[in-house]
Amino acid sequence: MQIKEVTHTEIGATVEGFDHATASAQDVDAIKEAVYTKKIVVLKDQHLEPRQLLKLGQLFGRPETYYEPMYQHPEVEEIFVSSNVPKDGKQIGVPKTGKFWHADYQFMPDPFGLTFIYPQVVPEKNRGTYFIDMGKAYEQLPEDLKKEVSGTFSQHSVRKYFKIRPSDVYRPISEVIEEVDTKTPPVVKPSTFLHPMTGETILYISEGFTLGLEDADGKPLETDLLQRLFEATGQLDDTFDHPNIHLQTFEKGDLLVWDNRSLIHRARHTTTPEPTVSFRVTVHDARKLYDEAA
Ligand SMILES: [Fe+2]
Repeated sequence: MQIKEVTHTEIGATVEGFDHATASAQDVDAIKEAVYTKKIVVLKDQHLEPRQLLKLGQLFGRPETYYEPMYQHPEVEEIFVSSNVPKDGKQIGVPKTGKFWHADYQFMPDPFGLTFIYPQVVPEKNRGTYFIDMGKAYEQLPEDLKKEVSGTFSQHSVRKYFKIRPSDVYRPISEVIEEVDTKTPPVVKPSTFLHPMTGETILYISEGFTLGLEDADGKPLETDLLQRLFEATGQLDDTFDHPNIHLQTFEKGDLLVWDNRSLIHRARHTTTPEPTVSFRVTVHDARKLYDEAA
């Protein structure tokens, strides 16, 4: 196995010759280290059946099964399926997922550290996923913004982007919203925390899931600070030219592993809908999102 840093960008490394069936614990540790420091690692030339994809994920930690069943792979529930390609006339998984800035499971009490994406059908034209490293983005904030956000807390919810399920048709929208708020009540986390693996400060907010900021007593902040943070970090740039935004492309056989603590991501806009299918496995590593005591 060989890990190569992608030198022309700060983000990214590629791994050649990784085989989950024969990988040693040292191999797995080396890849994890690369993920935490280079943020995205591409495992090249992977040929995996769904069950093998899960096995690979299990080498890195404890898989998290997505809480909404409509996203789950019909045979391996731990696999989240994003697809606009029917299989035998049936919709598998959910189309058009994640077209907004977010960290995976940011709206949940216990988000996982690692996301694995294994593209199955790769679009011809609009390929790739946008990323922002919220550790780097924090570092580059003006000092006054850093000071302003320090000690604040953020409220996250899936409310804005919860996807209506086929079973919701004909239900009153208020009932659906009430169900979302009961099943996944908003969670509150520090707006910044230390990455437990690297020690860097992460600004943990996203335009998709972060609803508002509050003080240590839970009192909402009457300020446009959140909007200014979205603006400064590049999350309001619809041209995707902001220097913080990294477009990660991939080809068939690539398996992307990324640091779900520091990266937020967004599916790429497609002007013409193209067939796209990808499988995702998400994994809790040895630590929580951040250390509570810190
Ligand atoms: Fe995502």
